[in-house]
Amino acid sequence: MGDVVETEDGAGSGGRGQAAGGPRFWDERYRSTPTGDLSWYQPEATTSLALIEALGVGTDEGVVDVGGGASTLVDGLHARGYTDLTVLDVSAAALSVARARLPGAPVRWIATDVTSWTPDRRWALWHDRAAFHFLTTPRQREGYLAALDAALAPGAALIVATFAPDGPGRCSGLPVERYDADRLVSTIATRVPVDVVAEQRELHSTPRGDTQAFTWIAGRRTG
Ligand SMILES: C[S@@+](CC[C@H](N)C(=O)[O-])C[C@H]1O[C@@H](n2cnc3c(N)ncnc32)[C@H](O)[C@@H]1O
Repeated sequence: MGDVVETEDGAGSGGRGQAAGGPRFWDERYRSTPTGDLSWYQPEATTSLALIEALGVGTDEGVVDVGGGASTLVDGLHARGYTDLTVLDVSAAALSVARARLPGAPVRWIATDVTSWTPDRRWALWHDRAAFHFLTTPRQREGYLAALDAALAPGAALIVATFAPDGPGRCSGLPVERYDADRLVSTIATRVPVDVVAEQRELHSTPRGDTQAFTWIAGRRTG
């Protein structure tokens, strides 16, 4: 399980392979820049880990990190004893970076575009730091929310972080949609109703020393 990156058709869906935001775009982004130099890099996923603890997600429960890329969240969860971990990203190159840090770890790696993904199971926690905000069209967001709907049973938890209204308007040259907590929750609730447990504003320090404002929401699916 930990040695194979599953590649699904969605990784090239919609002819977005070479286009901005498609798998080749993101593969190139990860191949051209050391992970620790990427603007979103964090040595430890501290906010995510704190929110996961606040939500009370058990170490035997399934966690999927959507748009997880090469994030160190999976390292932190593995070190804390989580045994049912999935990382999904449109970039297989990004997943390979994370996978190389965790040889033999029981992690499922899925290379696909979340907006056209059909989940084959349900998870206790959906985590997304800085992927949803790249979805700038209603169709992309509908695809994402359909996957979220299929992946989470009522009562399951979710954590989503995007750039805040005063955060950057672009990332990696791509436009992003910025949210405050109310709009992020109401956007998700168009498909998946959420009881919010925590909202948080975070100022992320990039490796270059810039500051980026993030909006975090954590909650549970209600219906
Ligand atoms: C800013 S990075 C954040 C990565 C990671 N969540 C972290 O916090 O380090 C955004 C990630 O979203 C991924 N991504 C962008 N669009 C995606 C899509 N449609 N489906 C799946 N992953 C996507 C990118 O490949 C990239 O790894």
